[in-house]
Parts: sequence; structure tokens; C-alpha cells
Amino acid sequence: MSSPLLRRGGRGAAALLGALWGVGRAARRSIIDLSYSTHFMDFQGSSIPSSMRKLVVNKLSPNFREAVSVHTAAVPTPGDADLLVRNRFVGINASDINYSAGRYDPSVKPPFNAGFEGIGEVVGLGLSASSRYTIGDTVAYFGSGAFAEYTVVPAKESVPVPAVKPEFLTLLVSGATAYIALKRLGDLAKGETVLVTAAAGGTGQFAVQFAKQAGCHVIGTCSSDEKAGFLKSIGCDRPINYTTEDLAKTLRKEYPKGIDVVYESVGGSVLEVAVNSLANKGRLIVIGFISGYQTTSGIPSFKGATLPVKLLQKSASIRGFFLPHFLSDYREALGSMMQMFAKRKLVCEVDSGELAQEGRFVGLESIFRAVDYMYAGKNLGKVVVEVAPPAVSNSKL
Ligand SMILES: NC(=O)c1ccc[n+]([C@@H]2O[C@H](COP(=O)([O-])OP(=O)(O)OC[C@H]3O[C@@H](n4cnc5c(N)ncnc54)[C@H](OP(=O)(O)O)[C@@H]3O)[C@@H](O)[C@H]2O)c1
Repeated sequence: MSSPLLRRGGRGAAALLGALWGVGRAARRSIIDLSYSTHFMDFQGSSIPSSMRKLVVNKLSPNFREAVSVHTAAVPTPGDADLLVRNRFVGINASDINYSAGRYDPSVKPPFNAGFEGIGEVVGLGLSASSRYTIGDTVAYFGSGAFAEYTVVPAKESVPVPAVKPEFLTLLVSGATAYIALKRLGDLAKGETVLVTAAAGGTGQFAVQFAKQAGCHVIGTCSSDEKAGFLKSIGCDRPINYTTEDLAKTLRKEYPKGIDVVYESVGGSVLEVAVNSLANKGRLIVIGFISGYQTTSGIPSFKGATLPVKLLQKSASIRGFFLPHFLSDYREALGSMMQMFAKRKLVCEVDSGELAQEGRFVGLESIFRAVDYMYAGKNLGKVVVEVAPPAVSNSKL
């Protein structure tokens, strides 16, 4: 198994991280069960069942419900360097529907497994993997096939975490994207003005906090007063609920000198407004274009003919960011965010669907609801699904 994200930018990102997340790990117990030496797993009398459920992409479509269904399959056996992780929580990403539409790697044909990131407990492992991990360790990972009850994860691509808390899931992709993008491409200076779009979402919440930490004045767009209140609570100076205030007019009126840095996730007309609002020497970072993901092409329309003129007239720039291209920064980013979280200097807001129509996202089936919920713009923070309650272990492994 390898991460769809890692596939493009090189492998083994999480290998860099192993040591980082070791803070507060439970004491190790050594493995003396030599059954692992042949990767043999005895399911008899163990808490690991022989079969499990997982989400599989059967046909390529950005409509997640059309593309994906729940399958029953044998619980996979970890190879020599792998862990078998019993997933407790999995993270929903806007790009889950880009993945189900086959936009990540057109050479991969269905059926293939869905889901980018999970956190859970190690319930089986190969012999080489046992040099770093043991049964009962808690790990987080990002890699394809996370939407399953059990996932095999290469030990070098998993990250030890102190506990199976959904908050840790928010950092793997969403937090790391904001941290690295702003650090590498933002060139933030104290006193500058930063606009974050989809600011109350999975990655936006972190962009707001990191820009604020850099001493900037932060504006954040969102679609409800509740989200605006949340944005205030994490330091956003000017939340703009675009359902009640006109974004372009508000920016023109309140920021006549323009915006220095934009962390832009929506695309289409929002991107147009953001470009038009740039200050002289402004930097716009393209993080995503979610407004187009549900369409056939995946790309929202954008009136770009005058873009060169606009950029030249303001000496402004547009910069693209894709996390796998910045894996050399990943170790430092995760370590730093973990420390901030431990010191309560970083809010990692999780949305488990408590306010969703049919209640909390629990069980694999609720992933469909969770994706719909995100695409209805309802989420406040990172959308997380609880795959299974904590195990009552009677494992002999
Ligand atoms: N470049 C990278 O490496 C990278 C990595 C991770 C994520 N991303 C990008 O970051 C963005 C956010 O992803 P996420 O997973 O963190 O999601 P999210 O922000 O947790 O959820 C998506 C949010 O986007 C907002 N939104 C605005 N227009 C929308 C539309 N037309 N349809 C649906 N939602 C819309 C909604 O908030 P409001 O209703 O409040 O506007 C919604 O809550 C996406 O563009 C994603 O592709 C990029």
C-alpha cells in the first residue's frame, strides 16, 4: 500500500516522522511470538476476525455514492515490514472525490480501495516491523485504503501517536498543508493581511492560526455565523460569512490597499475575487479548487484572460502548492504542530457529525454521509468518522 499523495512526490514521508510522534508512548512489550517470522496470523481465539468491511471504488466518478460501495473482504495479512492497523478514526478529505474520480493517478483502474488517512491500533505486524512497533501501539498514517476496518500500512509510512485521538488526524494532511504552504510560499511578514478561504474547514482552520501566529491580520471566509464565531475564537480578525456579506465588496471597502497573501481553496469565482483583491507584491497560494470537484472535469470555470495583466500591474504572483512536493518539510511541520497541540497553542477542531441530520459519523457506512456533509459546506473543522469503538481485546496475538 502506498499513499496516493506519496506516490507522486516520493515515498516514505512518514518514515521521517516515526521518532517525532513518540511523545508519551506506552511502554513497549517485546514480541516473542515467532509466528510473525512467517507473517502467519492465527485468527483462532483472537479478536481479529477473518473478514472485514471496506470501501472500494468500483467505477470512476466524482459522485462518491455512485463510485464507491461497501465490500466484505478477508482481513489482509501484513508483510514482513508492515503493520495491520485496526482503524478507529479515519479522516475525510475534499479530495476523496477526486480520488474516486481517478484524478490522482489515471493509470489506476477500479476496483481500488478508498480513503487517505487513519488512526488506530496495531493488531498484527511482520517481523521487520516488530523492530519499531509492537501490538497495541497507536499509529496514524496516510495511505490509500484507510476507509476499512483494518488496513495494512508499511511500518515506515506510519507515525506513532501518543493516543488514538481524532485530533492527531487533523495534522497529517490538513495541518501539514497549511503549515508548509504558508511557510514555504507565503513569505508572511508581521502586519501583513492574509485571506483564507474555506477558513473554518479542515485545512483552513490551521492556515488562520499559523497566519495569526506570524503576526498577520487574518480574514477568513465561511458560510455561516456559527463558523464565523469559531473563526473569531481561533484568532481570525475578520470572518466574512459570504452568505450574508458580499465578499468582493467587503474586501474592496475594508481593505483598499489589498490583500498581501491568499490561502485559496475554493477556485472559480472566489479565485477571481481573490486575484482582484491582491495588493502590490501580493502572493496567492492555490491550495485547491473545491467548487469544481463535483463536476465532470473537476475544474471550475475561471476567467483568466486578463490574469497576466493583473499580476504584472501589481507585481503579484500565484503559486501552486501540492503537499507531496514538500515532503522534506514534513518532519519539521508535524513535530512543530504536535508540540503546539501539546502546549494547547493549536486548536485542532474535529467535526464528527454531532450536528449532522442523522447524527455522529460512526461506522464505515457513515463515510458517505460525511462526504455529503462536507460538500454541503456543513463542516466546522476537520471531518472525522469513527470506524469502530475501542477494541475490547481478547487477542492472543
Ligand atoms: N494542495 C494540497 O496539497 C491540499 C491538501 C489538503 C487539502 N487541500 C485542499 O484544501 C481544500 C479544503 O479541503 P479540506 O479537505 O480541508 O476540506 P474542508 O475545508 O474541511 O471542507 C470543505 C469546505 O469548503 C468550503 N466550500 C466552499 N465552496 C464550496 C463548494 N462549492 N463545495 C463544497 N465546499 C465548499 C465549505 O466551507 P464554507 O461553506 O464555510 O465555505 C466546506 O466546508 C480543498 O480545496 C482541498 O483540495 C489541498
